[in-house]
Amino acid sequence: MTMLPGASCAEEPMYREEPMYGTMRLFSGRANPPLAERISEYLKVPLDEAEIFEFPNENIFVRLKKSVRAQDVFLIQPTCSPVNRNIMELLIMIDTLKRASAGRITAVIPYYGYGRTDKKDQPRVPITARLIADMISVAGANRVLTIDLHAGQIQGFFSIPVDEMTAMPLLVRHFREKNIPNPVIVAPDVGATKRARNFAQALDAPLAVIEKRRVGNKPTARVLNLIGRVRGKNVIIVDDEIDTGGSLEGAFEILRRRGALEIYACATHGVFSPPAVERLSALDFSEIVVTDTVLIPPEKQMRHLRILSVAPLLGEVIRRIHTGESVGAMALA
Ligand code: R5P
Repeated sequence: MTMLPGASCAEEPMYREEPMYGTMRLFSGRANPPLAERISEYLKVPLDEAEIFEFPNENIFVRLKKSVRAQDVFLIQPTCSPVNRNIMELLIMIDTLKRASAGRITAVIPYYGYGRTDKKDQPRVPITARLIADMISVAGANRVLTIDLHAGQIQGFFSIPVDEMTAMPLLVRHFREKNIPNPVIVAPDVGATKRARNFAQALDAPLAVIEKRRVGNKPTARVLNLIGRVRGKNVIIVDDEIDTGGSLEGAFEILRRRGALEIYACATHGVFSPPAVERLSALDFSEIVVTDTVLIPPEKQMRHLRILSVAPLLGEVIRRIHTGESVGAMALA
């Protein structure tokens, strides 16, 4: 709010409502332009043009086509594959915006790469999720907007505000509409239990958990154990991301052996690193549901894949951040 010229303290103050950080501006890196387009359509705000290219020596160069001075900039760039290029591009774009005097820079990172390297769980290893958070802040971002971090505690790796949204209601709505009879929700590992439990509660369905247990000293030798009943039921496996598909493959096999009927799977992030497509295409899933936080090229779009869009969710949060409305209230709505 601004006091208009001419108003004195003695008079009735005159205020004018105005956006806190100038006009909303939307930019996209090269990580997921279709998602950025969908967010732009939701907001009815055009995407700004930026020239982004690599020199022969692989150095990334960015040039903004128009001034962003004192404007409220949202930069959309998930740090998905190619992860290291997309992270570097994100940092360089933030630096470009900062040096162009943007009023506020919100890094919209729908998928946060390196999120699984979030703790020192053995000697002499990095905490890369923290390193990336530091780099984003140092580059000049003022805020971060993200979806379903691998661990919620990663929010605390940032010293700037982080809005972490969840795509779980979107996935719950999808399965509620399918009205699958006799469902049971399955966590594919113990770490996924809380997420799966919330999902089960929302669908009013029971929960089962797959426990992976290491055998001997070999890191790859594992047995799977299933806690809960799936026989004669239709199963929905719930996870935060599908990477190589190994967890889903293991889950599928034990669920089939234990008598599950139809097997569905869902996750927020469809990373699908090799050999996920080969692995999952060979299995008789009824449906695998992910969102568009990560760009999934046509060659990875398997026959049973369904992609839901997080654009309305991100668009609405961007609108609220811009106008200073509560984002937390959305979770309660
Ligand atoms: C692990 O902690 C995650 O929640 C997912 O289960 C994991 O990212 C899946 O990886 P993959 O598909 O390679 O088994």
